[in-house]
Amino acid sequence: MALPPDSAAIQPLLEALAFSPENLALRKHVAGLLLQSGRLPEAEELYRTGLRQAPQDADLQLGLAETYAGLRKTSAAFVVVEELLEAQPEHARAHLLHARLLADTDQLTAAIEAYQTALAFNPTLEDADLAARLRGRAPAQGGAAPEHHTAPNDLINEQTLFGGLERPSINFSDVGGMESLKEEIRLKIIHPMQFPDLYKAYGKATGGGLLLYGPPGCGKTYLARATAGEVKASFIHVGINDILDMWLGNSERNLHQIFEQARLQAPCVLFFDEVDALAANRHDLRQSAGRTVINQFLSELDGATRSNEGVLIMAATNAPWQLDGAFRRPGRFDRILLVTPPDEPARAAVLELLLREKPVGQSINLPKLAAQTAGYSGADLKAVVDVAIESCLRESMKAGKPLPLEQRTLQDAIGKVRPSTREWFATAKNYALYSNEGGLYDDILVYLGIKKPSA
Ligand SMILES: Nc1ncnc2c1ncn2[C@@H]1O[C@H](COP(=O)(O)OP(=O)(O)OP(=O)(O)O)[C@@H](O)[C@H]1O
Ligand SMILES: [Mg+2]
Repeated sequence: MALPPDSAAIQPLLEALAFSPENLALRKHVAGLLLQSGRLPEAEELYRTGLRQAPQDADLQLGLAETYAGLRKTSAAFVVVEELLEAQPEHARAHLLHARLLADTDQLTAAIEAYQTALAFNPTLEDADLAARLRGRAPAQGGAAPEHHTAPNDLINEQTLFGGLERPSINFSDVGGMESLKEEIRLKIIHPMQFPDLYKAYGKATGGGLLLYGPPGCGKTYLARATAGEVKASFIHVGINDILDMWLGNSERNLHQIFEQARLQAPCVLFFDEVDALAANRHDLRQSAGRTVINQFLSELDGATRSNEGVLIMAATNAPWQLDGAFRRPGRFDRILLVTPPDEPARAAVLELLLREKPVGQSINLPKLAAQTAGYSGADLKAVVDVAIESCLRESMKAGKPLPLEQRTLQDAIGKVRPSTREWFATAKNYALYSNEGGLYDDILVYLGIKKPSA
């Protein structure tokens, strides 16, 4: 941090400014020094005079707003900074000041949003004090963190932090095919939540989470969202990378807050996407941080601090073998399901969805296309449709009129897009064959036809 400039250094500059009051660059410089050294009334005077010369100057506006904030003339500061933001919506420092003012006036939700906007435009603007205040942790006066920071108010603010709370409009009927998968999800996680007493009576554990794994683009995220829709629960989508990155060093707290939010929203599906990022994190430089995050995650899963009743915990990964074995202990992700590439009916459904708003010709035959795309993921099918649309556009240009998308074009596109899931299965097969503790990856072997499905 720069030391405040001393008065002796400012004096000659003030005199120079008196000689050439129209010199805006000098004015900004001197006003800035006054602001830094806490000579706020003088700074205010310089900024205001400057703004009479150049009313739209962003530096002067920001300087004046900061000065007002320092003088506790909060509403004046608001007016100036909001005017600036109206003219320059991407002004990161203005957003940061706005965030501070909002925090000062207890408008925490808006403050969090403003702070995030500031960081989005300029990530170097991190302000640890502000961040701590926004998290309801450290009151501005300092002192120990109060333990009641999980009060509903605080949590409502968290929603904006993670932006993940949804009410999904899709349910299982929007998931094409995948019947056995839906059945498994009902059995393994929906019913235990709906009939906990029955399950307990039969000595079946309830609680714990479901880990979806499989090749990319095959509907893990989609299925999790549909599960929430199926039980009319809210849905919280958490990208593990987001927690690890956001507010660096605060990941444990973030996790705790997310779980608390889910408990508050119950019934709720709490979905951790790319959960393998936790494992990756273990190997990188922030090693010790990684370990504490994992421990926090595990203890939240265990419901060590608070019961997870009414919270369906789901997670997805492409690389389950990277996850610490501790994740799969009873009560944690003790149920694990392979989300295979879409089967034939699923592919037809996905294609239908993808073609819904497109101009298609009479020749389109979805079942036939579905039959020709074994091994294609949902994302691959999207690529097929994209390629087909492109060549349809080219033909339309040539013809000088819009042509509908025909079966032939889609079939050509299938020839051009390779299914992406084979590579994943090549890797997965090795794990399934050579480190398949307790038959964990039997589903992979069954899918590949290496093992017979168990009855
Ligand atoms: N059975 C299905 N029915 C309808 N749409 C599907 C189905 N499977 C996949 N899709 C479509 O494919 C898209 C990609 O799926 P999704 O993003 O859920 O894959 P993912 O397995 O989470 O991939 P990643 O591992 O890359 O995160 C979805 O948005 C959805 O539109
Ligand atoms: Mg996904």
